[in-house]
Amino acid sequence: MDKRPIGVFDSGVGGLTVLKELIRCLPRERFVYFGDMARTPYGSKSKETVTRYSRQIVRFLLSEDVKAIVVACNTASAMALDTLEKEFDVPLTGVVKPGAKAAADVTKTGHIGLIGTESTITSGIYENYLKDYRPDTRITGKACPLFVSLVEEGLIEDPVTAEIARRYISGFRDTDVDTLIMGCTHFPMIEDTIQRIAGEHIKLVNPASETARSTREMLEEKDILNDTDISLDEEAYRFFVSDSPERFKKIANIFLPQSVSNARQTDVERF
Ligand code: DGL
Repeated sequence: MDKRPIGVFDSGVGGLTVLKELIRCLPRERFVYFGDMARTPYGSKSKETVTRYSRQIVRFLLSEDVKAIVVACNTASAMALDTLEKEFDVPLTGVVKPGAKAAADVTKTGHIGLIGTESTITSGIYENYLKDYRPDTRITGKACPLFVSLVEEGLIEDPVTAEIARRYISGFRDTDVDTLIMGCTHFPMIEDTIQRIAGEHIKLVNPASETARSTREMLEEKDILNDTDISLDEEAYRFFVSDSPERFKKIANIFLPQSVSNARQTDVERF
């Protein structure tokens, strides 16, 4: 039994879609969330840069005494997770492997669509994991970088977001793709728009629930689950950002059932 919090990070607000599932799946755990609002987006940056940013965030989270870390960002999972695993001995989990598993369980035609950042799509990482689960699958990927900025701007239900989604996604409609992986943690925030445009016959996969399940398994295996209730008057969920917290709080309060009033700015470059 380990009362220490779990660290969760993303380039911005997207990782909140994973945090939401983590809270649901692990109601006795405390969490420290870090959103790198000052340096988002990660999707257009090099592997070296994303790895450097991720390393600094891991060091920051360790300074907050976390017992495990969830990389709640597909881009950082694709670009940096293997390096982080070599460099740190804290238990780490990403979102790509669970996302691939979830999609393999769902597809019937074996033709899977993947939307994400440019880096995630070109890394080929989803294809690699999918081969392990179902070698007969085929992926058609489409980079949708503007979705990240639209979500960061809070344009969740907006005609501009719908128009961009039409340009990115309507091509999937007339194919035998039956499963579409939201391979960027920002995208589930605009899930309704994506579903409408992809068509109801396509099943959207949000890797967050499978990520939460695999995080639980990891904590169980290492015997570091917290087995006592968390009290409502403590700061069980703490939020840090690398830029002004106001925009973060606004989006977090729309998206999370818990009220987010305690987001603080921290200088992650120090770590
Ligand atoms: N939310 C992120 C992901 O899952 C990163 C988006 C970005 O910063 O470009 O890939």
